[in-house]
Amino acid sequence: MKYLVVGGTSGIGAETVRLLAGIEGATVVFSGRDEAAAARLADSLEPARRARTVFARSDVTSPSDTDALFERVRALPGDLHGAFNAAGVAGADGPLRGVPFHQADERAFDRVIEVNVKGTWRCLRAELAAMAPQGFGSIVNCASVAGLRSADSMSASYTASKHAVVGLTRSLAAEYAASGIRVNAVCPGVIDTPMLGGMREELLADLRRKNPAARIGTAREVAEAVLFLLSDRAGYISGTTLTVDAGGLTGAL
Ligand SMILES: NC(=O)c1ccc[n+]([C@@H]2O[C@H](COP(=O)([O-])OP(=O)(O)OC[C@H]3O[C@@H](n4cnc5c(N)ncnc54)[C@H](OP(=O)(O)O)[C@@H]3O)[C@@H](O)[C@H]2O)c1
Repeated sequence: MKYLVVGGTSGIGAETVRLLAGIEGATVVFSGRDEAAAARLADSLEPARRARTVFARSDVTSPSDTDALFERVRALPGDLHGAFNAAGVAGADGPLRGVPFHQADERAFDRVIEVNVKGTWRCLRAELAAMAPQGFGSIVNCASVAGLRSADSMSASYTASKHAVVGLTRSLAAEYAASGIRVNAVCPGVIDTPMLGGMREELLADLRRKNPAARIGTAREVAEAVLFLLSDRAGYISGTTLTVDAGGLTGAL
């Protein structure tokens, strides 16, 4: 029984690796570019969990890296039960970063699309190629509440990229349902991970204040939702966008 976490070296992906590594009999392959972060994650796991993990260095923007990652996954014994596509980057534009859209840099936009959309697309294609002959499998894409609405805390390029991830999720859920494969998305609100690193404290305080639970979420809380969607307990759930935001989407973000 194999699981893959693309972008598993940090934040939400890393917490998902931690939880998946607790499943008896599982092999958890996780990828990313940062080998030092991968080693820190593996070292932080208790020995039985660590023994279930395999790190594969891979950049989702590189077709050859992605091919090598899936070759590595194929070479390990067992079927690919689940995959979580978590690799993502925040946009460099937006009013909160002091860069209004009309001054946005085209290369920065390309970068967000290349990682968040094309990278997810590339991995989905390989995951579905592995799962279709098996006749089962569960895929979770990491979208965002910014994939469901606009928000003044997120850039237009990031928002556009996450809407695309939701579109891929919905289309592929329908296309692969008859093949026994479920495709879902988690849509986190503001979550305490290194991605928030560049945000000013007053902005974070404002986001906390606007959240119905008056707090920012944890990577663990998102990882628990991912585990549920990957599991057989979600056997009749496909094409859904599961918000993990303490109800933030129902009000101001
Ligand atoms: N934090 C939030 O508030 C929030 C809210 C909604 C959605 N999300 C989404 O959640 C996902 C995880 O983000 P996070 O918050 O956990 O941030 P994070 O701690 O910065 O983690 C990002 C992950 O993506 C990987 N990644 C980035 N570029 C990559 C590339 N080119 N190739 C392979 N891996 C790459 C990173 O690995 P390496 O550095 O090792 O390459 C890292 O493992 C993202 O898709 C993000 O958009 C986050």
